[in-house]
Amino acid sequence: MSDRVARYKAKREEERAAAAVQFEEEEAIADDEIVESKCIPSTSEYQYEPERIIKVFQTCFQDMFEDQAELNQLVQSVKGDLYNRDYAAAFGEERKRDAYVIRWSPARALAYSSLFSHLKEVRELIYDFSDEKKDLDVLAVGGGAGSELVALNSLYCFAKEAYPNTEKKITITLVDIADWSSVIDKLTDFTKKYWLYKTDTYKPDFINHDILKPGVSFGNRDLITLLFTTNELFAEDKTEATKFLQRLGTECKSGALLLIAESAGSFSHIQVGKKKFPLTFLIDTILCGRPGSDTGPWTIIDGNDSVWYRTPGVQYDLKLENMRFFYRLYRKR
Ligand SMILES: C[S@@+](CC[C@H](N)C(=O)[O-])C[C@H]1O[C@@H](n2cnc3c(N)ncnc32)[C@H](O)[C@@H]1O
Repeated sequence: MSDRVARYKAKREEERAAAAVQFEEEEAIADDEIVESKCIPSTSEYQYEPERIIKVFQTCFQDMFEDQAELNQLVQSVKGDLYNRDYAAAFGEERKRDAYVIRWSPARALAYSSLFSHLKEVRELIYDFSDEKKDLDVLAVGGGAGSELVALNSLYCFAKEAYPNTEKKITITLVDIADWSSVIDKLTDFTKKYWLYKTDTYKPDFINHDILKPGVSFGNRDLITLLFTTNELFAEDKTEATKFLQRLGTECKSGALLLIAESAGSFSHIQVGKKKFPLTFLIDTILCGRPGSDTGPWTIIDGNDSVWYRTPGVQYDLKLENMRFFYRLYRKR
């Protein structure tokens, strides 16, 4: 390697390390920052307990925990790429994808289990085994890194213990622009092996696809989730992201639920012309019509502009991040 190339590489590494530190500082929420009265519970009676949720990741990615030094290096490298919004570099290799999953998805899976339990309409949908012929169809947009899948499983498999022989099917389609298929395969194998008695009614499916392009149907979905993904869609292409949300309005069936959650931090503002708008305002306007008019295809049935999630004291080799986010639950008219 020539001196020039070596210097260039060292500089890139330095920049990446600095970006990783900055990323960590921006996203970390210390325990004493959390406003207790605005917290959703750390766990609930409607899901598997946090230890079991964490165990999924410990088991599926066991080999990654064997070399802590390499794991830390991979995590630092992913952090740097994420800070620089270089998603191709962050998610381009399997080891880096696995490192991302075990660093960020466990805390999210815990938070989403709690959120799904907390939202009565979502919980009741997952818990409804009254009609064996009424299958459940869930679509998680940007759900490739597994937290939505594990969270849904933690409610569904727990509820299904009371209905071991039910014929009711659950289809969980996870669509993501990055190829998380091997991650979803591992999580699915685990679920079938350890969390389910009968597996033929459980149908997770991963689709490696850009949701801003046509190709995924919305018409039969009972629940669509967009968790920590909307911001990225708007950052990629505001016009196409707007059209995508409008398409949900024209194609989803009446009664369908749409759950959107996103960081409540400063990232959640979108520049339109010379003005910056909060993402919540933009999404609400596209989905429900101008403020006060309530003329759009969706109505808000639950929401909060800033809730906190404090991760419970579970033993895990990596940090389990506290979270602060806004959420909206919409129902299609
Ligand atoms: C910040 S991550 C959130 C992951 C997961 N939803 C969670 O909350 O843990 C955003 C996800 O959206 C995916 N994504 C970004 N743009 C996308 C697009 N145009 N179509 C589908 N997925 C996309 C990314 O690959 C990534 O997995």
